[in-house]
Amino acid sequence: MKHFISIQDFGLDEILDILEEAQEMVSYAEERGQPSWPARNPLAKVTVLMMEPSTRTRISTCQAGELMGLRVEAIVGMDATSFAKKESFIDGMRTLAEEGTDVLAVRTEWAGGARMASEVYDRMGYATSVINCGDGPNRHPTQAMLNFLTIMMRLGRVHDFCIGFVGDLRYSRTIHSDLDMIQLLNQRFGDIRIKAVSVPEAALYEWQKIGLDVQESDSLEFLSDCDIVCATRIQKERYTDKNELKKVQGRYSIDVRALSKVLRDNVLIMHPGPRGPEVAPEISEDRHVIMWKQMGYGVPARMAIIRRCFEGRLGKVAALEDALCVLKTIVEESVESRLVKREAGEGAFRYFMPITERGMVIGHLSLGAGDRVKHLLKKHAGLRGDEGCIHVHEGVKVAKGTPDERRKDVVVLEGQHIGQGFYGPIRFMEPDVTFNVIKGGTFTKVKADMPNALPAGIFKCPNDDCITNRDPEAKARFYVQGDMAVCSYCCRPHSRQDIIEKM
Ligand code: NCD
Repeated sequence: MKHFISIQDFGLDEILDILEEAQEMVSYAEERGQPSWPARNPLAKVTVLMMEPSTRTRISTCQAGELMGLRVEAIVGMDATSFAKKESFIDGMRTLAEEGTDVLAVRTEWAGGARMASEVYDRMGYATSVINCGDGPNRHPTQAMLNFLTIMMRLGRVHDFCIGFVGDLRYSRTIHSDLDMIQLLNQRFGDIRIKAVSVPEAALYEWQKIGLDVQESDSLEFLSDCDIVCATRIQKERYTDKNELKKVQGRYSIDVRALSKVLRDNVLIMHPGPRGPEVAPEISEDRHVIMWKQMGYGVPARMAIIRRCFEGRLGKVAALEDALCVLKTIVEESVESRLVKREAGEGAFRYFMPITERGMVIGHLSLGAGDRVKHLLKKHAGLRGDEGCIHVHEGVKVAKGTPDERRKDVVVLEGQHIGQGFYGPIRFMEPDVTFNVIKGGTFTKVKADMPNALPAGIFKCPNDDCITNRDPEAKARFYVQGDMAVCSYCCRPHSRQDIIEKM
């Protein structure tokens, strides 16, 4: 592996291998020993760049790098960097690789930052690995590794338990990575039960639960049968609405009463830190509270991850998959016979098909969509958009006697065709679209299946906190799930409507 961006990028065996290696690193971390490994290079460098505050992740990553025998440079305080001069994120990433970073451990306030950095390195051929140390509210996969290392060390297994999450489930990136981990483990073992306690404003969004069976409640009593309770701080900095913040702050506190009256006697209380009132100060040193030992396991977990990334940095990285869109030809005939039909007044084409030589008619677009498709094609497809080259016909009747609401927009391209890459995005925007291609004396009517992905740079991510909206070079890319477009960077699903509105 070259990068460590999300648990979702891996199969379970690989994750279990890393956890096993992390277990082997525990004694080195605890005794300040240095494991020997042949590929180690004492001049190689780990750069730790925390663009958001960090204590545990920063210090344990530095410690892990040093115990692995690598040089470590931690960049602390963005005011001392050129980011304070508004240098772009991607330029900063290039600078670090060019100046000798072998492994970059990075935290950003924007979702998708680490993924974006890894893609820049792969594209430019840098042998620099990226470790995601938290990207906005999205993911924090190294924290999930140390959480499950902790569970492994305490229970001797990483399945067959009931785990409860309490606090800010919506914005807590650590919990999102824990859920990725559980999803992976449950695919094989199927015996981790998940409980969640939060108020509605801090609850998981529906899309964050896809593929998971999460039982939810707003009462701590609900966690009475949990073997493990993971509490999390309210992620104050992610709330733009202060009223919402008020509703979620201070709602839950695991205190002496909860420990003695509500939770199981052998429950383990975990917390990624920093803690708020959700783990009451009065139980800080209680035997159930293992958050201190948990943070200690951050060192061996990150040692294992750094070793893998360092060794994998020279490896080949699979190219990003192209967006695919299956096209089905539903009519193919000579332009001549088509023209005869047009003369005879059959079919909708009698209204608008002026093309006989070369061109395209994009039909069955909903009312108002013609202009949007024209805009997309002019902006991205390199088509000539001057008068006479692209016509939009609004509200064309699709068949005789069709009621007005069935009127459709049509876009006519004269003397030009769209590239294959544009069928998918237009199909995503307009489910009924038909593509009529006139070329070399043949008329072909094509329907497109829903594409598997939307290529980079055509649509914007509607999530303002996505890295793609925070760097002048960054371009959003989506994969399509059902009729939702999921951003490859911030991982949020967006409806067709949201994507169209942000065009
Ligand atoms: C967490 C983080 O930064 O996401 N802390 C950590 O890395 N251990 C949790 C938090 O900030 O609440």
